[in-house]
Amino acid sequence: MPPSLPPIADKHLPALLAAMPKAVLHIHVEGSLEPEMIFQLAQRNDIPLPYASVQELRSAYAFTNLQSFLDLYYQGAGVLQKEEDFYDLALAYLARAAMDNVVHVEMFFDPQTHTARGVAMETVVHGLARACRDAQAMHGISASLILSFLRHLSEREAFETLEQALPLREHFIGVGLDSSELGHPPEKFERVFARCGELGLHRVAHAGEEGPPAYIWQALDLLHAERIDHGVQAVHDAALMERLARERIPLTVCPLSNQKLQVFPDLRDHNLKALLDAGLVATVNSDDPAYFGGYTNENLRQVFAATGMHAGHAWQLAANSFDASFAPAADKARWHAQLGAVFERFATR
Ligand code: HPA
Ligand code: ZN
Repeated sequence: MPPSLPPIADKHLPALLAAMPKAVLHIHVEGSLEPEMIFQLAQRNDIPLPYASVQELRSAYAFTNLQSFLDLYYQGAGVLQKEEDFYDLALAYLARAAMDNVVHVEMFFDPQTHTARGVAMETVVHGLARACRDAQAMHGISASLILSFLRHLSEREAFETLEQALPLREHFIGVGLDSSELGHPPEKFERVFARCGELGLHRVAHAGEEGPPAYIWQALDLLHAERIDHGVQAVHDAALMERLARERIPLTVCPLSNQKLQVFPDLRDHNLKALLDAGLVATVNSDDPAYFGGYTNENLRQVFAATGMHAGHAWQLAANSFDASFAPAADKARWHAQLGAVFERFATR
């Protein structure tokens, strides 16, 4: 907590959470594909859907674990075919994020989900990158891309994907690792991530969402991950918690995702407050907002209401989100100043 944090009355906390500037570092752009847009794109691209209506599709979103979600998420992404589809998807997300006072986004995309269906890598990357550029002018939000490898696929396929993406290197800042965690430990991608490091790419990885603390150790020691996506299982390993705090390795936590995928079926049991109170650089993110029932501010609103955090936690989460980003230092300094100004505006003295 900053020494000069002004006093904020509890009744102002929900408005403060919404108004404070923040960065989002864990969003899968394919997971922002709302059922309405699935139907629009299916029609535009003449693709049949196994659902009769938006409501029928939305009612299928009842998940028991990560895999039960991923099956629907990959199916939904099948309507994305043309550069314009990727552009429309990303621009709609960034417009929605700006409404939550998000000032900066580092957005995952899963190229293998698309190249496996015959969509060219350039189609995906050009559409997304153009949306990131236009969002800055249209919504005053900065955005960059992180190429995420699907961990249920092979090391060879990850290397091939990297090879296909390298001509487009200027359009993404880093690589990530997502999809089915259990049975696909980070060590499977040690050599791919080593190559990405040589190429000067930032490296992050999903670890400790459903998987054990050992996967977080591997992400740090073998993949040299600069951030851990989710990481909530770290609480089961005291030595790991101590390391994450000491080395200031950020965790990109996604409360509503954790609730919907039954990691914490009751949000009151979520460990975000424990992570912050242990000094970890935790942040709040939306993961796949179209599937999990809320964008960033809804994640903040619900997790604060369920776990009884206060304004000091809110400030810490926003500050962490800037510090944990790969944005230039000058941008971070500007966002920190904006954060301070919003807290002053809500001060009750
Ligand atoms: N975990 C792993 N893979 C994913 C997720 C997630 O929460 N969302 C999209 N791909
Ligand atoms: Zn994720």
